[in-house]
Amino acid sequence: MARIDELLSQMTLQEKTGQLNMVAAGRSITGPVIAGNVAEGVRNGRIGGLLNIWGAEEVHNLQKIAIEGTKLKIPLLIGLDVLHGHRTVFPIPLGETAAFDPALWQRSAAEAAAEAAADGVALTFAPMLDVARDPRWGRVAESPGEDPWVAARFAEAKVRGFQNSDWPAGLAGRGALAATAKHFCAYGAAQAGIDYAPADVSARALEEIYLPPFAAAIEAGCAAVMPAFNSVAGEPMTAHVWLLRDWLRGLHGFDGVIVSDYNAIAELIRQGIAGDLIEAAAAALRAGVDIDMMSGAYAECLPQALERGLVSMDMVDAAVRRVLMLKERLGLFDDPFGRGTRPGVTGISQARRKFARELARRSITVLTNRNLLPLSPDLRRIALIGPLAEACAEMLGPWALAGEPQDAVTIREGLSAALPKSAIHCERGVAISDPDLSGIGPAREACHSADLVVLCLGEAAHMSGEAASRANPGLPGSQSALAEAVFNIAGELGKPVAVLLSSGRPLMISALAANADALVATWFLGIEAGNAIADVLTGAFNPCGRLPITWPREIGQVPVFFSSRPSGRPANPDDPHTSKYLDIPVEPQFYFGHGLSYSRFKLSAPRLNTSTIKPGEDIVVEADVCNEGPVAGEQTVFLFLRDIVASVSRPLLELKGFAKIALAPGKRGTVRFTLRSADLAFPGHDLKPVLEPGEFLIFVGPSADPKELLAAKVRLLPD
Ligand code: GLC
Repeated sequence: MARIDELLSQMTLQEKTGQLNMVAAGRSITGPVIAGNVAEGVRNGRIGGLLNIWGAEEVHNLQKIAIEGTKLKIPLLIGLDVLHGHRTVFPIPLGETAAFDPALWQRSAAEAAAEAAADGVALTFAPMLDVARDPRWGRVAESPGEDPWVAARFAEAKVRGFQNSDWPAGLAGRGALAATAKHFCAYGAAQAGIDYAPADVSARALEEIYLPPFAAAIEAGCAAVMPAFNSVAGEPMTAHVWLLRDWLRGLHGFDGVIVSDYNAIAELIRQGIAGDLIEAAAAALRAGVDIDMMSGAYAECLPQALERGLVSMDMVDAAVRRVLMLKERLGLFDDPFGRGTRPGVTGISQARRKFARELARRSITVLTNRNLLPLSPDLRRIALIGPLAEACAEMLGPWALAGEPQDAVTIREGLSAALPKSAIHCERGVAISDPDLSGIGPAREACHSADLVVLCLGEAAHMSGEAASRANPGLPGSQSALAEAVFNIAGELGKPVAVLLSSGRPLMISALAANADALVATWFLGIEAGNAIADVLTGAFNPCGRLPITWPREIGQVPVFFSSRPSGRPANPDDPHTSKYLDIPVEPQFYFGHGLSYSRFKLSAPRLNTSTIKPGEDIVVEADVCNEGPVAGEQTVFLFLRDIVASVSRPLLELKGFAKIALAPGKRGTVRFTLRSADLAFPGHDLKPVLEPGEFLIFVGPSADPKELLAAKVRLLPD
């Protein structure tokens, strides 16, 4: 690109390292070190990018300095964590994944991009693609759950949505954001579920679990990648030459920008692979990290690293070139003020709010229901009890930087609007996390005159997300005491109790599951939480959310997930020498894919178009679904595979597809999947893909619960 070559030839070393320096502007705080006056750094060319700033006017003023106040007039790159909406906050990613709807995932990214771009943002630090199987780890809230195949579909949808891939202008469009696939990689395998802790995973686990979502993101054209804070098998990701240079750029041809996580380059010193900031800067640059987020190592130390011969000017130029190319692809050179100038994009549009409600209600996952839901329209008196009943900020979740709590519809507001004839008596009972029990008495009292008790329990938004690991992820504070008191009095009075669980993770709630007449996972649903919850409770919307993560019974089971490998001694209650616990069942509280509907769906066994295939051929799998229930609804059918005998022990279940089908009462339909023979391949002994003849089981089911799976067999013949 001539313009970039020309620029590079004119740039001083300071101007080059300035382009590799991204600094936090401080409107939101997402890391440990805080910058000073960024305007001066922009003016003197030492800052090429900013994060944690948004707002058309603020961005315009800083972009004006870069364009009009510097010699080279290189536009600033403005980045922000736009994970699940911008000002219009949508459900957290773990909740949105429960909708199992790639078109919806893509649309929510596109809506968020349009809103954030109108606020001057050009790059989002999303999608977060960390496969997560440990509810102790707070960032499970930001993840697409436990399965790499789902995470890969989520990656494709989000990259295409953020980057406006379906529009001619693409990334250069004024409503587009450059997407950043993060955190590369195996961050979800943090030791003991503690954030930022090392991850020690096998090369096979990388191939089968943690790398596929990033391969999908790159295939979808993702513009940037962010290495994870953690080390993988002893090598910090921020300086991981094999994974960043050889796998990402070499094997997968990623030519976009690698942006470090916040201060991560400087933290290579603490991770023990750099003696000082100069060595840290050199290690990151050699690995291919282009932008230094917030550590200052590149701006301050690359000159000395060059003098010491630790890096070459070619490496610096290659990094600068990729950053300038990204700015070019974003249209920032031709239209530096294009994002953030459109008038009137203030507040929340009604269309976007309507979409937020649709997405939120599709994310809600009904876990148990003893014929309590949907609520009777004749309901007149509701006792709404618990610390989340009137919570606003909590509904936005832990990563809603531009979200405003006052925009959120509370559970109480949603129920009041949906049930205008009902009297709703609200009692907090206890706070989210302090020990004061004084409110339990009034809460018990409120049950006496109620027809229905709705318990609104769960976490505060800050209890999940970054730096929010919990060793015992149960109900915080005294909420269990509140629940027990309410169940007791409601039992004595014969009043039904519905429990709404707002959280950023699966919570250990076996007691709630045993006692509630209905238990609903409402995640953190965003600004339309209250209305979406009311839509589901009243039956205005028939719930279709399905768990994107296995829900453990006890934290001692972790990690528990459906695609584990077979044991030589599988659990057998009749045989003491088998793989089980002495103190609890081995089964999880709820399986991956679990979620109830107000319809009743019957699924047929899978029909295959052939019982044998050869490499290069496809298998068509069909299964009939019948709605035997009283109301129209949507069923999600999962397709799993089991390679019975192979040169490497294959997982008990591998997810290879999901399909949704909407059916009126009494109607029947067919879901259809096409499996390519390549879908039967797996990493062999050398971790290269192999396709081995033999028998495979193909399952369909509404979840990964073995009791609900229906199977058919196919044989792969030799070539
Ligand atoms: C944080 C997070 C990362 C985020 C970045 C910028 O530390 O790890 O996900 O994108 O900093 O806010």
